[in-house]
Amino acid sequence: MSPIFTPVTSVAPNITKVILAITGGIAAYKSAILARLLIKSGFEVRVIMTAGAQQFITPLTLQALTGNEVHTELLDTKAEAGMGHIELAKWADLIVIAPASANTLARLAMGMADDLLTTVCLATAAPVMVAPAMNQQMWAHPAVQLNVQTLSDMGYEIIEPDSGVQACGDVGSGRLPEPDILLRQVINFKARLTVAQCLTGKKVTITAGPTVEAIDPVRFLSNHSTGKMGFALARACRDAGAEVTLIAGGKVSLMTPLEVKRIDVLSANDMLQAATRSVEAGCDIFIATAAVADYRTRDAAPQKIKKTQDEMTLDLVKNPDILATISHSYPDMFVVGFAAETQDVEKYARGKLESKNLDMIACNDVSRKDIGFASDENAMLVFFANQYQKPPVELEKMSKANIAEHLVNLIGSVLN
Ligand code: C5P
Repeated sequence: MSPIFTPVTSVAPNITKVILAITGGIAAYKSAILARLLIKSGFEVRVIMTAGAQQFITPLTLQALTGNEVHTELLDTKAEAGMGHIELAKWADLIVIAPASANTLARLAMGMADDLLTTVCLATAAPVMVAPAMNQQMWAHPAVQLNVQTLSDMGYEIIEPDSGVQACGDVGSGRLPEPDILLRQVINFKARLTVAQCLTGKKVTITAGPTVEAIDPVRFLSNHSTGKMGFALARACRDAGAEVTLIAGGKVSLMTPLEVKRIDVLSANDMLQAATRSVEAGCDIFIATAAVADYRTRDAAPQKIKKTQDEMTLDLVKNPDILATISHSYPDMFVVGFAAETQDVEKYARGKLESKNLDMIACNDVSRKDIGFASDENAMLVFFANQYQKPPVELEKMSKANIAEHLVNLIGSVLN
C-alpha cells in the first residue's frame, strides 16, 4: 500500500522589516543583490552603510534598489529628522550585517557606538545576523576569531564565510557567501525564531558527522559526512527549548551552536562510549545522525605502515551499532534514527524502525545528487513507529536548518 504522505515545503514566514547593514569590503557589491532578493522575498528593507562601505558601493545604488533613503550618519540633523537612530533600531525586526568587516566585528564585540551601525546594534532589541567577509589570513587571525566568538556568545547569529578563491587572489576561508545563500540563511533564521517551544525541559543527545577509524598513526578510514544535519538539529532542538549534547565524530569543522554541549570523538567505539555516558547522565530524546563507519581495522598499527609490499589487506571487524545499542538499553527513551536509501525506502525504513527499536526514522534518497552529504539542503521521508498511528511525512527539498526544524516539530507532536 502506498503511504499517505503529508507534504511540507516551508515554514510560515512572519517577517518583515530588515536593516541591511553594509560595511567596507570588496564583497559589498554582493549586498546590492541581497537587498534586491530580500525585497523580492517580501521583506521591507532599509540600508545602513558605514563610511568604508561607501568606498566600494554608493548609497544611491541601494536607495534606488530599496526605494528608501540610505542611512549613513549618526549625528546628522537632516538624517535624524527623517528616521533617527533609535527609531531605526526600534523599526527593525532583524539586522543583517553583510559583509561584516574585521573592523566592524571588533567594534561590535567591544560594544562601541562610534557610528550609526554600531549604535543601532546596541539600541536594538532585534536579532542581529553577521556575515563576516575578509581576506583568509585576516579571518584566521585569533583576534578576529575571538571577536566572532564573543559576538556569538552575545547572541549574534554568525553566518560562516565561504572558502575558495578571494578577490585578492588568495585561496581560503573568508568569502561572503553568494546573495541567494545569504537570503536563505535569513529566511531560515527567521523560521528558527518561530520554532515552537515543543522540547522545553527535555534533554537531547545527538550524534553527528563521520567516524574516523585509525589504520595507523597517520591514516584512517572515514566517509564524506560533514555533520551539517546533526548540527542543524542541535540548533533546532536548542531553539525548541531543549538542553542539547552534541557528539561530533571524526573531524567535524563546523561552529558549535551556542548553548550546545559539544563532545568531539573520533571512532565509533569512542562515539558509543560518549553517547552512553550522555544518555546515562539523563536523556529524553536520542537522535542518531552520525554516519558511523560500519567496519574498523581489527588492530590499528602502532607505527606508520611502510609501503614495502605490492599488495596489502586490511583486516576489518564490524563496529557496534550505536543507535541500536542505545535504543535497546533504554526502551522508554524517544529514539530517532536516520537512513540513507536508494530504493524501497518505506520497506527499509520500517525494517529499521523495528530492528533498531526506533520511534521515528528520517530517510533520504542518496541516489539524488543535489542533496544530502555536504550539501546545505536535504529532502526526507519520515516514518513513525506503529504505536503512534501517524502517517509518513514528506519533507520536500529545503535547507537542512528548515528540515531540522520540521523534524523537531514532528518529534514534539509525537511526544506531546
Ligand atoms: O543501519 P544503517 O547504517 O542504515 O542505520 C542508520 C542509522 O543508524 C543512523 O541513524 C545512524 O546514525 C545509526 N547508526 C549507528 N551506529 C552504526 C550504524 C548506524 O548509530 N554503527
